[in-house]
Formats: sequence, C-alpha cells, structure tokens
Amino acid sequence: TDRYCVFGHPVAHSKSPAIHAAFAAELGDDIDYTAIEAPLDDFAGAWQRFMAAGGRGANVTVPFKEQAYRLCDSLSERARRAGAVNTLVLGAEGVTHGDTTDGVGLVGDLHDNGVTLAGAWVLVLGAGGAVRGVLEPLLAAQPASVLVANRTAEKAAVLAADFTDLGAISGGGFEAVDAPYDVVINGTSASLAGDLPPLPDDLFAEGATAYDMMYGAEPTIFLRWAAARGARTVDGLGMLVGQAAESYRLWRGQRPDTAPVLAELRRSL
Ligand code: ATR
Repeated sequence: TDRYCVFGHPVAHSKSPAIHAAFAAELGDDIDYTAIEAPLDDFAGAWQRFMAAGGRGANVTVPFKEQAYRLCDSLSERARRAGAVNTLVLGAEGVTHGDTTDGVGLVGDLHDNGVTLAGAWVLVLGAGGAVRGVLEPLLAAQPASVLVANRTAEKAAVLAADFTDLGAISGGGFEAVDAPYDVVINGTSASLAGDLPPLPDDLFAEGATAYDMMYGAEPTIFLRWAAARGARTVDGLGMLVGQAAESYRLWRGQRPDTAPVLAELRRSL
C-alpha cells in the first residue's frame, strides 16, 4: 500500500481523501490517503515524519504552501513561478520535488466546460496566493490578454510584472477593468465575506464565462451576480478535482478520469 496525505491546519474538512480514494478505486490502485494536521511552526518536520513512515507524496493546503515550497530540493517551473507548492513528491534517494497543480486544474476545468482560452480577453479578480498559483498555466493557454484586478492595485501590478515574459498581462485596481471580457475568474476571497468587487454591469462579452475558484452547495455571490448579467457560470469544484488528478498523475504516472468523481462530489455538497 502506497501512502499519501494532505497536510493542512485545519484539515478535517478536506475533500482530498475522498477524491483520491475515488481515483484509486477507479484505477484499481491500492493506496492509503489520509488528512494530517501539521503543526503551524514545523511543517518540514511533519513531512520528514511522514516520509519516515513510508509516505510517497502529499498534497499541501492552507497555510503550508509557502513552507512546503521552501523545503523542496527541486521545483517545477510553475511552482517556482507560484512561489508555492501544493504537491510534494518523494523521489529517488529521498529527494523532495515540489509542484503546483492548481493552475492545471483551473485550465482543465475551463476546457471541460467548453471555454476557449486561446485568444480570449481574460479578467482575473484578486492578487493573492490563489491567483499567483494559476497564472503560469493560464498564460500558457495563450489568451489575447489577462488583466489582474485587485482591491489593492499595487499588489496586482507587482504580481502581473512577475509574469510579463509569459504573455500579455497587466495589473491594477478595479478601475482598470475595461469591459467586456470573455472569461472572468474570481480568485478573491471576497465571497467568503459575502462581498462583491465593484464591477460594471456590462462586464461580460457575448457568450462569456464567469468562473469562481470557490464552490459550495449554493452558487457564490459572484456567480449569482454574473448569471444575472448573462454570463455562463462555473464554480471551483472542478478545479479542486482537477488539481487532485494532476497530483495523482505526478505520484503514480496515470491521470484518473475526473468526470465521475466530480459528479459524485457535486451530489454530496
Ligand atoms: P489567497 O491565498 O486565497 O489568494 P490572500 O493571499 O489573502 O488569499 O488573497 C486574498 C485576495 O482576496 C486578495 O486579492 C484580496 O485583496 P487585497 O489584496 O486587496 O487584500 C482579496 N479580497 C479579500 N477580501 C476582499 C473583499 N472583501 N473585497 C475585494 N477583495 C477582497
């Protein structure tokens, strides 16, 4: 039995054990995947102990993604760009490799929902870790342009500047929003507070898609606002399953089919 886990704090709410158990059942793999609450001040120790106990790889969630990044012996390019790691892979001779699969999860879910990113005008709301983590794969899909708009304009400008070598990207405050857009991705945590960034009513182009990285049993306030303005809406549950599938592939070389697992998870919300 190969051992994996998700590290978080808190972590009891994590859907990752159920998702990975479903993947393993689908592929006929024998794995053991648990949730581990690592101590806030000793993430590296938790990973060391897990490896010593036979752990082969791990997912990393809030608040450890930056600590995980710092302990890695090697990093993927997208993880280096993100400055954060959500997947640890134990390699030969005890070497820890770090990657981040959130962006692939997002881009894959947009694709699965029929959204074409190539040539699209894209607006990304927010400039925190969640957004930084997805910009490399997003730009690799070659949109016409990406505007990162954030409550704190300076943060968006600084973030965008780190990615200008990868494509047409700029950053600013919400006043920089220049409608209409084909794809609008909410990467702020504003929905949690029931807040909505100040956005114009004509935000969406014909056939546009609004995507919220958050998800829940009910549509987020952002998605409700977007639906009322004619956009197609997609929440972040598919991104969650997609990032898990990409982690699974990194560990075991085989990418599980996400559709049945996503459908089951949707029913359980
Ligand atoms: P995460 O890791 O989820 O990205 P974060 O780094 O704390 O968390 O970033 C949270 C993001 O949500 C930021 O872009 C934040 O805007 P600021 O940079 O201006 O703080 C945004 N955010 C949080 N609450 C918000 C609100 N009520 N309205 C608008 N934006 C909000």
